[in-house]
Amino acid sequence: MDINQKKKAAAEAALAYVKPGMIVGVGTGSTVNFFIEALAAARVQVDGYVASSIATEQRLRSQGLNVLDLNQTGDIPIYVDGADEIDIYFRMIKGGGAALTREKIVASAARQFVCIVDDSKEVNMLGKFPLPVEVLPFARSFVARQLVKLGGNPTLRQGVSTDNGNVILDVVGLDFTNPVELEREINNIPGVLDNGVFAKRRADVLLVGGNDGVQTHK
Ligand code: 5RP
Repeated sequence: MDINQKKKAAAEAALAYVKPGMIVGVGTGSTVNFFIEALAAARVQVDGYVASSIATEQRLRSQGLNVLDLNQTGDIPIYVDGADEIDIYFRMIKGGGAALTREKIVASAARQFVCIVDDSKEVNMLGKFPLPVEVLPFARSFVARQLVKLGGNPTLRQGVSTDNGNVILDVVGLDFTNPVELEREINNIPGVLDNGVFAKRRADVLLVGGNDGVQTHK
């Protein structure tokens, strides 16, 4: 199985969590794009979808799927999204697609987070994937200096402006021994909008596409 077949298998398995009458939060990325294809084919009679990015919103609409504003929905039953890394406690690094802030908002508004990945995303320890941090352009250099003080080595992601008009610093070298504390500490730096550690709001269900099909972990 190649990586895309694994992503597709995990994405299709997530359909089992989508029930008629639900409002479904939809993440961002290539694995989620397979999920959107599966949603479009299945046509479950949901009440609508909340998108975690402009790209996802456009993709949902292009399939004729009903996109709702999170400000109108209240909390939602389910959120389905991929990850760049996920550990055995279902803590993640996300934001490879620069959508981390809206992703964390929709994930936090959801009662259940279903994470869909191929098996290359499973790790024993988070931190090999550079941690994306969304930063106000005004604060870019200041935040970079604070990240260096935390032991990190930040690099500006070139040519990227987020859906919120901000920049992304990708950071290597941070200590992930305590991801909840690291997530909190980075978010306390003035000028940081959010960072890609999803430790406070972890996944609840993990669907992993691999050579032997999809493994479900809860
Ligand atoms: C986007 C994300 C994605 O979930 C993450 O980058 C995984 O992407 P893909 O499914 O393309 O591997 O966090 O901001």
